[in-house]
Amino acid sequence: MINFEALFRISYGLYIVSSGDKNHGNGFISNTVFQVSAEPIKFAACCNKNNYTAEFITKTGVFAVSVLHKDTSPELFGRFGYKSGKDIDKLEGMKVIYGETGVPIVLNDCIAFVECRVVQTTDVGSHLIFIGELVQSEIIDDSQEPITYLYYRQVKKGVAPKNAPTYIDKSRFESGKQSTPAKKYKCGACGYVYDESTEMIKFADLPTDWICPVCGSEKSEFFEIDN
Ligand SMILES: Cc1cc2nc3c(=O)[nH]c(=O)nc-3n(C[C@H](O)[C@H](O)[C@H](O)COP(=O)(O)O)c2cc1C
Repeated sequence: MINFEALFRISYGLYIVSSGDKNHGNGFISNTVFQVSAEPIKFAACCNKNNYTAEFITKTGVFAVSVLHKDTSPELFGRFGYKSGKDIDKLEGMKVIYGETGVPIVLNDCIAFVECRVVQTTDVGSHLIFIGELVQSEIIDDSQEPITYLYYRQVKKGVAPKNAPTYIDKSRFESGKQSTPAKKYKCGACGYVYDESTEMIKFADLPTDWICPVCGSEKSEFFEIDN
């Protein structure tokens, strides 16, 4: 048997993984960044093959990781976690500095960053694991605590989209079961669609203080749409 709740007991942080150069860059929200070696110091970042940022990392061979704090705004999660750089310039208007390799580093809601040069790429299916050797690292704001994925889910009531490696497609495990038909609900403010067929929780069961992960609007702003 697979108990999905057990999978959510694995701990993760939340980060912006960015890449590119001084002319053109991009970034995405990731919960799968971790240090994988002590000597030399190396980090792994797990990136969906469809993420626009994957193209930047592959092309430039560099990436940066901005460690996000607990009060990170829903808008930042919306911009970097639910929208693609294929459609908008995500770095426009952001606080960005450039690392020693020229990689853009996002400083909004960031408490520390690491900058890495890719030394290995592993294809693991839907995702690529980029392994990078540390180039530089710095603290930006020591007064804040890093946000964990559990805090994001339980306190901020955040969810994760399909491109996250920890996303669970429940339909693959529940093919034989009877269940009520999945519905879709649209945010009246920004158009984000909560699709029950790809989420762990029915819309009605989300807490009343749940907010739109893209624009931060209240649950009451959502309305049901046709499938
Ligand atoms: C909480 C959260 C965690 C995520 N974790 C990952 C991750 O670890 N790897 C990944 O490839 N995408 C992850 N995503 C999804 C990407 O951030 C999202 O698909 C993004 O829009 C890709 O942007 P891009 O196409 O501009 O690169 C996550 C999103 C959220 C909201």
